[in-house]
Amino acid sequence: MSVESTVGQVTDPQSSDELRARGVASVLIPAEKIQSEIETMARELDAEYGEDVPLLVGVLTGAVSFMADLMKAMTIPLIVDFMAISSYGASTKSSGVVRILKDLNEEIAGRRIIVVEDIVDSGLTLQYLIDVLQRRSPKDIRVVALLKKEKADAAEVQVDRIGFHIPDEFVVGYGLDYAGRYRNLPYVAVLDPCVYQAAE
Ligand code: IMP
Ligand code: MG
Repeated sequence: MSVESTVGQVTDPQSSDELRARGVASVLIPAEKIQSEIETMARELDAEYGEDVPLLVGVLTGAVSFMADLMKAMTIPLIVDFMAISSYGASTKSSGVVRILKDLNEEIAGRRIIVVEDIVDSGLTLQYLIDVLQRRSPKDIRVVALLKKEKADAAEVQVDRIGFHIPDEFVVGYGLDYAGRYRNLPYVAVLDPCVYQAAE
């Protein structure tokens, strides 16, 4: 077997992308647009923190892709930690019930915190998280979110930097899931409603 045909079988981008994307209605934000926005954010954060060694707090599991790319794009010294908070389960609507599933390993008193969040929808998760972190007396907290849904009834919550404002639709990909799936898509996509209508 030639090298060429082996490579073709293993990494055919067309077919592997189609497999990962099954159930996707349309691509909302292509991978290149995400990466270029993250570059811009990283430059801003580099300039803002300089010598201060910020602690990036990623909100599991949705923020993994964003966190990985943002921290790699930043060039200043930084520390990374993660927190897990209960989310929607297998539904597409926020329950408003939030609890900590995994807490930070790091102490945050007196430190500069950057919360790295995938998406702000109702804002309830972030509101709760900021409240929990504030009680631990950090020096300051900045919130960066890759996505924010345009939603009239969203909670008033601190978000300092938003990558993309998106319509109030259920999206998947780039860390975001539906029932645990689609996180591995390199882009943000609108889920075909038949995927979750079938489950409701
Ligand atoms: P919120 O509390 O309603 O602002 O949203 C909490 C969490 O729900 C977010 O951090 C996401 O992990 C998840 N979430 C919100 N909207 C979506 C979506 O459209 N697709 C996938 N996950 C979402
Ligand atoms: Mg999240």
